[in-house]
Amino acid sequence: MRIAVVGSGYVGLVAGACFADLGHNVILVDNDERKLAALKNGQVPIHEKFLPELLSRHRGNRLTFSDDLHEAVRASAVIFIAVGTPPTERGEADLSYVESVAREITGAVDDYKVIVEKSTVPVYTSEWIRKIILRNGADPDSFDVASNPEFLREGTAVTDFLFPDRIVVGCDNDRCATVLREVYAPLTSGKYYESAGAIPQPDRTSIPAPIIVTSTKSAELIKHASNAFLAMKISFINAVASMCESVGANVNQVCHGIGTDSRIGPRFLNPGIGYGGSCFPKDVMAFRAVARECGYDFRLLDEVMRINEDQRDRFVKKVRSALWTLRGKHLGVLGLAFKGGTDDIRESPAILIVQALMQEGCKITAYDPAAMDRTQEVMNSNLKYASSAYEAATGADALLILTEWEEFANLDLRRLNDELKYPIVIDGRNLYDPEVMAANGFIYYSVGRAASHPEGVPAALRNGTKKA
Ligand code: UDX
Ligand code: UDX
Repeated sequence: MRIAVVGSGYVGLVAGACFADLGHNVILVDNDERKLAALKNGQVPIHEKFLPELLSRHRGNRLTFSDDLHEAVRASAVIFIAVGTPPTERGEADLSYVESVAREITGAVDDYKVIVEKSTVPVYTSEWIRKIILRNGADPDSFDVASNPEFLREGTAVTDFLFPDRIVVGCDNDRCATVLREVYAPLTSGKYYESAGAIPQPDRTSIPAPIIVTSTKSAELIKHASNAFLAMKISFINAVASMCESVGANVNQVCHGIGTDSRIGPRFLNPGIGYGGSCFPKDVMAFRAVARECGYDFRLLDEVMRINEDQRDRFVKKVRSALWTLRGKHLGVLGLAFKGGTDDIRESPAILIVQALMQEGCKITAYDPAAMDRTQEVMNSNLKYASSAYEAATGADALLILTEWEEFANLDLRRLNDELKYPIVIDGRNLYDPEVMAANGFIYYSVGRAASHPEGVPAALRNGTKKA
């Protein structure tokens, strides 16, 4: 089928590349000339596994790039809107980009088109898109507006797209639903997975993907409710971790104990420094705002956000209790991205903690495998950068682990101990076992577990209080 995707950001670029891999002809539209030029000459602006392969496979044949929205719409049967929906100061989703794209689409609607919301939008947005297009003179029977929310996690967005738990399509009539069933037929029929070049199937996925057809409003709510539930699950386990610290329990054991209940499940129960990224913080705030607008006071979401912020404050307190004073202290920091496997620092808890510690007068040297360039764009020059985890630890009063990169969980602990001025590790992502760290000579703090220290260290030297 002929598809246009408007917006070549984290969602649009992945969607365009994957639609091309399904066999569709895709025009990827963007109004950022720099981004288009980079895409045309083979650059891959985001850090996504398999994306480079898909772009090089389809660039110039089934996948083309354009800044001409009008022409792209005319040439396509289905138009996916994947422009950003960033939060406003009041925490609501800024839909001005969506509206401007909807207005521009109108003039190009010459025969039947299906216009699809791919970006995460509040409920009722599809009604507004329809209104805008009608107001700008389109024939009511010449188009339909559908919702097809994405559930892509950064770092695994391509496999999340091609091996989804489910495909959610919100349509208000069969004509529109039929078109979207056709778009996803290669996945729902299983044909894609038998094709020669199919991306390898990750574990914990089942094929073929089920498609769930709902009303547009239900589909819009499914996206916000999914993200809000996942954020709530993370805040819940972070609150339980704080309880564990108060009573001396071990959050790993608690997570194992509750996660084996099939109704709870073990995933998204990793306590840490709180969730970040371009989705959870924005979507929980937007969902809270939408609920209020629709007359429901969804106060549970306030608590989800409060616990999330509190988790960062608690971590800074933990650093202070481990080091007594912070001013002038040299800290090594591992991790700047909002999570492992990505270069994205949008709403990164690691960055927010680094900023808080620098405000307290700490001297920080940070290392991140992928996010240092983006960090340099936003942080002042006081933040120093290292070329490895060990270099970040050299001569430091303590080492902080702030992002759950695989490589940070497999460090040479002997070498790390030698590099550090004091063998103190404060782990915001629970990447290590406290006993293993103590056996390697570290004083080790983490989330929801008691601090551990090497055998034989006199109590007076075990700095930090029991509550650390
Ligand atoms: C996406 C979804 O839009 C958002 O709802 C979800 O929560 C996170 O992922 P993202 O892809 O990250 O947002 O947005 P962004 O990275 O800002 O990319 C949007 C792209 O659209 C940019 O390349 C921008 O240049 C382009 N754009 C924006 C247009 O082409 N036209 C516009 O009018 C506005
Ligand atoms: C999320 C949703 O998972 C995805 O479905 C949606 O489409 C977009 O938002 P993403 O934000 O890319 O994806 O990353 P995710 O893996 O969900 O992690 C989000 C944040 O939560 C990260 O900061 C991560 O470090 C944190 N997290 C995740 C935890 O602290 N604990 C966990 O158990 C899982």
